[in-house]
Amino acid sequence: MAETISTARAQTYAILRQSDANPAGRRWRAFHLTVLGAGLLAVALSSLDHLHHPLEQILTIVVVSVAGVFLAEYVARLWIAPESPRYAGMTDGAARLRWALSANGLIGLMAIVPAFAITVGTVHADSDAAPIFCILWVLKLNVHAPAMGTLARVISNERATLASVFIIFLMVLISAATATHFLERDGQPNQFGSIPAALWWAVVTLTTTGYGDVIPHSVGGKMIGSVVMVSGILVLALMTGILATGFSEEERRREYLRVWDQVTKVPMFTELGTVTLSEIVSKLRVRHYPPRIIVVRRDEPGDSMFFISEGEVEVRLQRDSVRLGQGGFFGEMALLDRLPRSATIVTTQPTTLLVLYASDFYEIASHIPSLVAAVEKEARRRRTANETAARGESQ
Ligand code: CMP
Repeated sequence: MAETISTARAQTYAILRQSDANPAGRRWRAFHLTVLGAGLLAVALSSLDHLHHPLEQILTIVVVSVAGVFLAEYVARLWIAPESPRYAGMTDGAARLRWALSANGLIGLMAIVPAFAITVGTVHADSDAAPIFCILWVLKLNVHAPAMGTLARVISNERATLASVFIIFLMVLISAATATHFLERDGQPNQFGSIPAALWWAVVTLTTTGYGDVIPHSVGGKMIGSVVMVSGILVLALMTGILATGFSEEERRREYLRVWDQVTKVPMFTELGTVTLSEIVSKLRVRHYPPRIIVVRRDEPGDSMFFISEGEVEVRLQRDSVRLGQGGFFGEMALLDRLPRSATIVTTQPTTLLVLYASDFYEIASHIPSLVAAVEKEARRRRTANETAARGESQ
């Protein structure tokens, strides 16, 4: 009995895990997103004036049902918390408490407050307070943004550089506010009478928002304004550059780990030494395909070849077809012969492929001759087999 419960808990954990690509997990996320969308729409509509009574009632039912789903989700997540590797070694109770106090736990709790408030009768779904409660649901969208964790890591990695840019921002802001206060305080005492008052103009100008509600009139003030505007563009460009580079580096590191995981399933690669392997890993890309997807089309130009790390594909030749499974590869002939694709290739089941682009293939050809020789040997065999089949047909 206890074993059945622990298996059910592990299965529920696999479904609710954010990063999971399994079909049940994907279905759950689609359902969650639909429920969330319906809830937000109902809250938005219930804020409209002069709603007809039946519509108002329907909206209340939707809001309460959505909150009910979130309540069930909260209880389920609390139950599965001990399955998370993050809480390994803790007792079930301690793991649940840690999850309940985590950001996701608190967001989950806040999302069900409206359910309690509405069912207990403290708030009606169409009352003024309901939207304030229900807007907390927007926070639940974070479950559907897997890059949120990456963003947090990028900010943490780049904190020193970001802090330096922020300090430059503060320096320009305070100097500009002080200088314009000196130059404009007599002409516009309401807007520039104090440094805190002048700070509003400085923030609006430095962030390049420029509402135009407060503007310097003196020549000196306008000159400072121009410098602040240009500095604003520079500071924003620096911030964007730092975050964009951090993002792409973080993504590259994650892709490297993803590829490394898949590469170990392809015998051709595992035979290579670690140094050679790490060189090829940085050139491969992981792609997941559902069944019945055309990966390569006959007669189209080819710019990449593929290694199968999981699953199976069907090679549709002129007459017959061949199946290639884990460890196999295809798409090499177009790269070696520089000819259009010789066959159409379709996945027969969920398949993970490692993609190697032509430019990287030619570069690898000079560094790892043994790998390319093996690919060339198989391509020769395939070409001969296809020619023999074509000749057999014509006779
Ligand atoms: P390419 O021509 O680039 O695209 C279609 C691919 O199908 C081809 O490369 C080979 O990788 C693969 N292919 C062609 N003929 C055969 C065969 N007889 N057996 C297995 N795979 C093949």
